[in-house]
Amino acid sequence: MEVAASAGGGGAKTPDEIIAKHCNACHGSGLLGAPKVGDTAAWKERADHQGGLDGILAKAITGINAMPPKGTCADCSDADLKGAIQKMSGLK
Ligand code: HEC
Repeated sequence: MEVAASAGGGGAKTPDEIIAKHCNACHGSGLLGAPKVGDTAAWKERADHQGGLDGILAKAITGINAMPPKGTCADCSDADLKGAIQKMSGLK
């Protein structure tokens, strides 16, 4: 699997790029019961039950039910995933 480096990116990925490439397929529409992008209440409820942003980040890394490990972004770092989650959820 090769991911083309974006211009001047040096391997760095922005949250928007990660979401567009990997997360939006499910989180854009709520496919399979995924919390939707921008639906902060849905994300907050999950975070509240799992010890906050880091709790749901941990689940995103390992995968949970229909949510694949790292949301299919195999080369995303934990920080990359955290940025994408913050952007999708609006949580800090
Ligand atoms: C194949 C569909 C799919 C993709 C792609 C996907 N997700 Fe998910 N995600 C889900 C589903 C479904 C759930 C709800 C799982 C459940 O609670 O049963 C979920 C839940 C989550 C949660 C909440 C976990 C929790 O503890 O409640 C986080 C955080 C998350 N996704 C992050 C991401 C990120 C970041 C990406 C992109 C890098 C991503 N997801 C890509 C389907 C997907």
